[in-house]
Amino acid sequence: MPKDDGDVLVPERVCGLIGHPVRHSMGPALHNWALQRADLPWVYMAWDVAPDDLGRMMDAVRLLPIAGLSVTIPHKVAVMEYLDGVSERARKVGAVNTLHWHGTKLLGENTDVDGFLAPLEAMGKAFDSAMVLGAGGAARAALTALQHLGIPDIRITNRTRSKAEALAADFGVDVVDWEARTKSPAALLVNTTSLGMSGDHVEDTPWPAEAFPAECTAYDIVYNPLRTRFLREARDAGCAVVDGLNMFVHQGLAQFRLWTGQSFPADLARTLLLEQLRG
Ligand code: ATR
Repeated sequence: MPKDDGDVLVPERVCGLIGHPVRHSMGPALHNWALQRADLPWVYMAWDVAPDDLGRMMDAVRLLPIAGLSVTIPHKVAVMEYLDGVSERARKVGAVNTLHWHGTKLLGENTDVDGFLAPLEAMGKAFDSAMVLGAGGAARAALTALQHLGIPDIRITNRTRSKAEALAADFGVDVVDWEARTKSPAALLVNTTSLGMSGDHVEDTPWPAEAFPAECTAYDIVYNPLRTRFLREARDAGCAVVDGLNMFVHQGLAQFRLWTGQSFPADLARTLLLEQLRG
């Protein structure tokens, strides 16, 4: 947050989020809290940038003292053409969610993979199989992370099979037919579909309650609501559950490190965001 300079607040550098829409993002709450904690005279803003305005926004990024950007839908792919380089990981995911500077070069990174990994690594379990439900952009980050963990048996299933096949070919994993997904139980089930998200799909789930395998772990990348139907039913079936809020906190932590070289306590950040969600 800005430092007090007499009576005037003077932020020296700016970070921000570009997306369309951005009004529900918790990024400003997370990063402004972390900047204030680190005593940095910076501010993090949210900019609603329509697709047609992305080029002009990227000119502004090079002109203004913008230290870094979070990038969200619909710009995660389109933004790449405006950058001086894209990390190998972001290339593998096929999307950039973070911009940062290396000297005079504006680089693209994808911190969703680190965000996804953090809660799994904290669990310390070794999974012998995993199934990704859904085949959108979030599924690509999940597949990159699951392969990073070295899980030997990774499968993907999606309502529209052709999309699952495209990802399976890219990542070298197996496809399971959506209708037959429960016949192919995995130790780790990852929901990357929009089923369960607040809105029209909030009472939907990608997995039938009676079909959770024994001792499985259910991971939902959705964090609003925090306890999706998928996670509630998984817990009732005796599974371990991982919600999407830790992923959000850790992808933000990786961004904060890239921009400031500093860190923040993930558990405190989670508590802060829980209050936001409840509010
Ligand atoms: P993103 O790229 O942000 O991950 P997306 O491309 O809209 O988002 O992906 C949403 C995912 O939720 C897709 O896998 C979608 O399945 P389709 O590819 O068949 O559209 C899945 N999804 C959305 N609504 C669904 C539903 N009612 N039943 C099953 N899957 C659904």
